[in-house]
Amino acid sequence: MQKTLSPVLRAKTLDNRLPDPILGDDHAEQAMRRLDPDYDNRAFGTSQLGLVAVVRAKAHDDWARSFLADHPDAAVLHLGCGLDARVYRTDPPATVDWYDLDYPAVIELRRQCLPPREHHTLIGSSVTDLTWLERLPRGRPVLVIAEGLVPYLTEPDLRRLLTSVVDAFPTGQIQLDTVPVWAWRTSKWDPTLRRYGTRFRCGFNDPATLADWHPRLRYVDEAPMYDAPVLLAKAPARTRRMYRLLNLVPGMKRSTRIVRFRF
Ligand SMILES: C[S@@+](CC[C@H](N)C(=O)[O-])C[C@H]1O[C@@H](n2cnc3c(N)ncnc32)[C@H](O)[C@@H]1O
Repeated sequence: MQKTLSPVLRAKTLDNRLPDPILGDDHAEQAMRRLDPDYDNRAFGTSQLGLVAVVRAKAHDDWARSFLADHPDAAVLHLGCGLDARVYRTDPPATVDWYDLDYPAVIELRRQCLPPREHHTLIGSSVTDLTWLERLPRGRPVLVIAEGLVPYLTEPDLRRLLTSVVDAFPTGQIQLDTVPVWAWRTSKWDPTLRRYGTRFRCGFNDPATLADWHPRLRYVDEAPMYDAPVLLAKAPARTRRMYRLLNLVPGMKRSTRIVRFRF
């Protein structure tokens, strides 16, 4: 399961080598070198299909920056953080407390690959064991970011997580991404997921309906991913052509939905 980290990290390092990167994440490259001592000698080819994962990261970064600009006293819960360097990329002011949470083994790896930082706490726990919520400060705005995490949770676990967070904080923003029901149902045959020995556990055809789970939660909007202008503007020409073709396949453009809620 934790191996699902490496394709995302690889995509970010490939982006970082573009002349005009989408994310421009030097920390991803640093983490990759720590994980793979031969990294600099490898031939990576020119396929940049993973760039779509970089677009997803950029959409979450942009939403996070705008929330933190309005709420400089916020606590950030970055759930299923993996080796993502969002806290360094967004570089929030010292008034923000940032919590990166993932399984203990991933958090240990993070400690080895990424530098420590003030007002930044690592929590090694399953996101579904909600005792971690008790360790967090209450009474201030919260920003919850769950990038590439939700499909790996069961629907009851996701529901418990979202409703518990809304109950615990006075106000906040929750940003996450989901896959549709067909992608969930067929995930056991997905070659990439099989290679990593995992599968999806939930899917939603209309992720806006997650707002119905709590009376204080409301759906705000969705960010584009496969047809994001930044992807079609910055990806190398060959990759751009591949995405234009893929977007013609029914259901493809919305095979991941990046959505934002407020309460
Ligand atoms: C596809 S990776 C995405 C990592 C990171 N958010 C990113 O976008 O680079 C999924 C992450 O979710 C974590 N994860 C999955 N289920 C989890 C759970 N129940 N509790 C904590 N972390 C979980 C995995 O360990 C992994 O780091």
